[in-house]
Amino acid sequence: MNSVENVLQTHLEASLNVLQKRLDGRTPRIGIILGSGLNPFADSIADAVRIPFAEVPHMKVSTANGHVGQFVCGNVAGTCVLAMQGRLHGYEGVSSQDVAYPVWLMEKLGVGILITTNAAGALNSAYHVGDFCIMSDQINFTGRNPIADADPARMADRFVSMLDAFDPSLRAIAHRVANAHGIRVQEGVYVGLLGPSFETPAEIRMLQAWGGDTVAMSVCEEVIAARHVCMRVLGISLVSNMGCGIDGANPSDLGVIDVAATRADDFSRLICGIVEQL
Ligand code: HPA
Repeated sequence: MNSVENVLQTHLEASLNVLQKRLDGRTPRIGIILGSGLNPFADSIADAVRIPFAEVPHMKVSTANGHVGQFVCGNVAGTCVLAMQGRLHGYEGVSSQDVAYPVWLMEKLGVGILITTNAAGALNSAYHVGDFCIMSDQINFTGRNPIADADPARMADRFVSMLDAFDPSLRAIAHRVANAHGIRVQEGVYVGLLGPSFETPAEIRMLQAWGGDTVAMSVCEEVIAARHVCMRVLGISLVSNMGCGIDGANPSDLGVIDVAATRADDFSRLICGIVEQL
């Protein structure tokens, strides 16, 4: 193992020690990353313990609007989950490995399924603000990859397959739950960019031509990190706005958070219903 791998492994072990003590015997099976405006879901987790990212050695702290920056571990629909109330984004000046770090930590804790969520702009003009979109695939256009350089901690193969990165059976469950609750969902290709500037109308047209259906500034690096260690992944976006320039749209971060607040109940029904089926 070279020195970079050693450092990451040592850091993960130190974080794990602290987290395990704070979890006090809780053994989460499902990890849930809550994106912009979707953080309030974690307030409904039962028998919860809350651990600020700042108290976990080597975890970077979220600085984005609407991202609380803590782990919340407890019960959802009778299953122990570890939620992240907020995440790290590349645009916050952290490395791709910093973004991936909590995903690898989850895996070390025994989490086998990652549900990653965010607010996203729609590229697909048939989508509506307030729709949920199950990710069928992703285009990582961040220019970054968490498993580049170091072959992190020899966790797994460097050349990880990204076929069916978003688990088909988890996607089917999400559709079934949405249908059962009458919640409108789309399924489409997610494009992840570095940000933090929103896209120009010309970039939106380019991403549409590439086959993208939604766009935002997170998720892709987490998904690569999770697949690298063989976690099953489900990705769900809330369409918080139409992409810049579509019907005159001009997205803002506060607008994104406002829309998420109006969809909080359906988001909660969807996530609880999915967890119940796992
Ligand atoms: N573009 C990029 N990121 C986003 C958007 C968007 O339109 N909406 C929410 N996050």
